[in-house]
Amino acid sequence: MHQIKIMGGVPLKGEIAISGAKNAALPLMTAALLTDEPLILTNMPHLADITSMEALLDQHGVHLSNDLNQKTLTLTANTIHNTTAPYDIVRKMRASILVLGPLVARCGQAQVSLPGGCAIGVRPIDIHLSGLRDLGAEIDLLDGYIHAKAPKGLVGTTITMPIISVTATENLMMAACLAKGETRLINAAREPEIIDLATCLMAMGADIVGAGTDTIIIQGTKRLHGATHRVIPDRIETGTYAMAAAITKGSIHLTNTSLDLIPTASAQLQRAGITLTPTDQGFQVSTSGDDIHGVDVMTEPFPGFATDLQAQMMALMTICRGASLVTETIWENRFMHVPELCRMGANITVHGSSALVRGIDTLRGAPVMATDLRASVCLVLAGLAAVGETLINRVYHLDRGYERVEDKLRGCGARIERIAE
Ligand code: EPZ
Repeated sequence: MHQIKIMGGVPLKGEIAISGAKNAALPLMTAALLTDEPLILTNMPHLADITSMEALLDQHGVHLSNDLNQKTLTLTANTIHNTTAPYDIVRKMRASILVLGPLVARCGQAQVSLPGGCAIGVRPIDIHLSGLRDLGAEIDLLDGYIHAKAPKGLVGTTITMPIISVTATENLMMAACLAKGETRLINAAREPEIIDLATCLMAMGADIVGAGTDTIIIQGTKRLHGATHRVIPDRIETGTYAMAAAITKGSIHLTNTSLDLIPTASAQLQRAGITLTPTDQGFQVSTSGDDIHGVDVMTEPFPGFATDLQAQMMALMTICRGASLVTETIWENRFMHVPELCRMGANITVHGSSALVRGIDTLRGAPVMATDLRASVCLVLAGLAAVGETLINRVYHLDRGYERVEDKLRGCGARIERIAE
């Protein structure tokens, strides 16, 4: 087990290149199951979740060739010899559910372990299952597994999703590509990752209109072919490093990204007094050394404020002038970073799904415990701003979603290192 040790108080200065998006790359990898030809993905991030997805696809029979230097992954699902996604892999990474739609569509069957709960919430998958039923799949839940069958193939239909779900939209969009006829996905998620997946599927021969709006229309086709696709920049990594610059009162040029990926977060950062200036390669984040003003945020589906940036924004708000009300509407248990921030001196009171953050002058370093991916990085941000030493335990969560986090921050002057416990 490793820990991360940070000596805080250094304003970050320099440049950080943003990696490809984890939450775009994972569904793109499962799209390879839809064709027997190679799918070449470039700008791939090197992360633990990507390695888990590789292991899952490998045991389905997908041939994988990974060129880490070129950040390129080639996936060829020539033959799929196993349609079961086992508990041991699914329990480690819930995004494994993304093989369900493609496997049923291509092979007419799939057995996927039920993912179970997760630190941030119950995380049901009813919308994935009812959408596949609407497309004609028979679904049974047995022995902890989803057993899905569509021996005669899926048939397009209109699916109205009761709640906006990112991975359900992705699963159903992929399944509909090989269904007979037209599928309309109503109340679809509009995240940039949905547009990225649709762009890749269209390069593979799919007919999709409306990705990025709340209605996606897919005309099914008998087969898809191979393609080459570049993964979009990670908008959550982008927002995280913008907040790292702000919390340390530093100045960082973020490259290989764009402000357009974080419309609401960038507006709130600007309201808080942070300067964000677009450049040819991304944008510059700077602080004038003045106070950070308290601003309220409420998490919502895209284009609203991303739940995956809530913990990082709360870290920033701990040292604001005034107060900030942070409301979480997506996950019922996503305030686990609050007690840890309070151990560092933060003044936060939780009332149901809202947290009232009263700004203090400085955080103080302390030993803290990471509970999930975004909570971990929120503690890194707090540690970078705090006076003294912060020791973060359970940092394996970080490696699921942040590529070379210590290197990137050290490159901007942070005193951060990984140590063996
Ligand atoms: C995706 O999860 C992301 N994961 C999450 O990122 C992110 O927090 C989340 O979207 C919200 O933006 C990936 O893209 C791999 P949802 P997903 O289905 O698709 C409810 C991170 O840190 N719901 O959009 O699983 C659900 O309970 C992670 O990188 C149902 O009720 O989230 C939640 O309240 C964590 N039934 C809401 O919808 C369902 O069948 C949105 O969840 C599905 C979802």
